[in-house]
Amino acid sequence: MTKKVRKAVFPAAGLGTRFLPATKAIPKEMLALVDKPIIQYGVEEALAAGCEEIIIVTGRGKSAIEDHFDISFELEATLERRGKKELLALSRQVSNMVKLAYVRQKEAMGLGHAVLMARELIGDEPFAVILPDDVIDAPVPCLKQMIDVYNQTQSSILATMEVDGPAISAYGVLEGTPDSTNPKLFNVTGMVEKPKLADAPSKNAIIGRYILTPKIFELLEKTPLGAGGELQLTDGIKALLATEKVYGYTFDGIRHDAGDKFGMLKATVDFALKREDMGEKFREYLKSLSL
Ligand code: G1P
Repeated sequence: MTKKVRKAVFPAAGLGTRFLPATKAIPKEMLALVDKPIIQYGVEEALAAGCEEIIIVTGRGKSAIEDHFDISFELEATLERRGKKELLALSRQVSNMVKLAYVRQKEAMGLGHAVLMARELIGDEPFAVILPDDVIDAPVPCLKQMIDVYNQTQSSILATMEVDGPAISAYGVLEGTPDSTNPKLFNVTGMVEKPKLADAPSKNAIIGRYILTPKIFELLEKTPLGAGGELQLTDGIKALLATEKVYGYTFDGIRHDAGDKFGMLKATVDFALKREDMGEKFREYLKSLSL
């Protein structure tokens, strides 16, 4: 019997050291891209892809994420009293969004460990993983594209894009061959987390969107610590290859690394230019700069 992808896991327990000092007291997932926390873009993507349940893996100092997706009684009562209908709708849109569950990762032991924390809440069904740092701007939401592929293949799918040069060392990297029937698919035969450029098996970097079969949990339980002394999701998926098919999927869309200062700046410019309420004004401002 085939099962649908209904649940999405958001690992959000990381320390956010790439964005210090902003992330000293604020979770990096709550940093605003224009006016919306980056994790909300991911949650909206999961909903648009048909997911019904969101599981956020949090840790110490991350309670702002829970507050963000909750009802804010004081704020909403004040907005109502002042007749601020549009702002009230914006606030409620978040709290009404979806069924959310939180699970706590007590120690920052890596992405594989974070995903393992969601085991009980996922159970025996395929699920999605979204890394909130990776904001993907796409005509069809990236996760929706991947779920469509999953529905055809019933196999684990990893989002991938080509990365040139030494930057590849910041990623999990796929080994394998292009699929002969679909140019967007890559038949994965191996993978390595954060290799040196010379050791990278290809230019196909893993981007933060995954669809995984539940078999991954028992494998992650047995996976030894890997790169950076952490339990790596990449190593768990590599073990999955012994018994299951795994595909890389070249998505349509632009990926922004919003967990990085420069990546966030670029994303801000792109997203602000596209906004109906400020795009034109912002374009004029950028043009006026004598660069
Ligand atoms: C994680 C994964 C890595 C993947 C990357 C995508 O790394 O471990 O395989 O390529 O996300 O953003 P991180 O960026 O958390 O170090």
